[in-house]
Amino acid sequence: MNEFNRVLGGGMVKGSAVLIAGGPGIGKSTLLLQFAALISQNSRSCLYVSAEESIEQIQMRAARLVLLEANVLLISTSSLTDILDIAKKVNDVGVIIIDSTQTLRNYLIDSAPGTVTQVKSCAVEMIAHAKKSGTSLIIIGHVTKDGQIAGTNVLEHMVDTVIYFEGDSTQQFRIIRTIKNRYGLTNEIEIFEMSSLGLNEVKNPFTIFMPALGLETSGSCIFAGIEGTRPIMVEIQALVSQSFLATPRRSAAGCGVNRLAMMIAILGARYGLSIR
Ligand SMILES: Nc1ncnc2c1ncn2[C@@H]1O[C@H](COP(=O)(O)OP(=O)(O)O)[C@@H](O)[C@H]1O
Ligand SMILES: [Mg+2]
Repeated sequence: MNEFNRVLGGGMVKGSAVLIAGGPGIGKSTLLLQFAALISQNSRSCLYVSAEESIEQIQMRAARLVLLEANVLLISTSSLTDILDIAKKVNDVGVIIIDSTQTLRNYLIDSAPGTVTQVKSCAVEMIAHAKKSGTSLIIIGHVTKDGQIAGTNVLEHMVDTVIYFEGDSTQQFRIIRTIKNRYGLTNEIEIFEMSSLGLNEVKNPFTIFMPALGLETSGSCIFAGIEGTRPIMVEIQALVSQSFLATPRRSAAGCGVNRLAMMIAILGARYGLSIR
């Protein structure tokens, strides 16, 4: 997974902790099961802990992704103590994946899973284990509709790398973006495509817009921007229609209203384009 390596800043650092956050259904479990299978092809094994799904559910996903042969160690438990016990017993584990931080539970602490106290306590113990044993840790975090992760502020400070998994779960393209990285650049992005066989890297995102290029499509324009260290092509679409309101409405998706107002003002003042 070269692209995933790239957002990590060249690969995983031993003893480091990575937080991968994203909305429900975006593909976090899928990506990390694929990642676990790849890691396990090498000499060190990977421990995939699911505090959300049963072994059978993970195996069903593995069957769909054609990964049943992969040598991944699976555990289904939400108990922090169980995870630490097992992690200390199995030899030569290179990577531990925890799915997810909101469902993990330290039974020594009397508060519900997903609360800041629980998220923090479980993260402290897991990170301490990772540092001590030289194992790399990947923690999955859920993001709610308003973009918040439970206990995220604490969590983001505790881990070495924070990666956001963005996109619309009803569409096939997904973006992963580094928000924080102690071992590399931030704002690196990679684009993935969701298929029945899992997430595939989109090697050249420019090809996504190829069909639109060359056509005299009104209201569509391809813009070359830059994200992190890579140029990226973005399609911008606009539509103007007759309004019967006293004050016509201007709305935007994927761009703030203030920014939209600013761009329309610039088009008016500098290019004489009158959008009423
Ligand atoms: N049979 C399938 N074919 C294609 N895509 C699928 C299939 N089953 C699930 N998916 C995709 O996988 C997504 C769920 O992925 P998952 O890794 O469970 O997400 P998360 O762990 O982030 O909640 C769904 O939103 C859907 O896009
Ligand atoms: Mg999941």
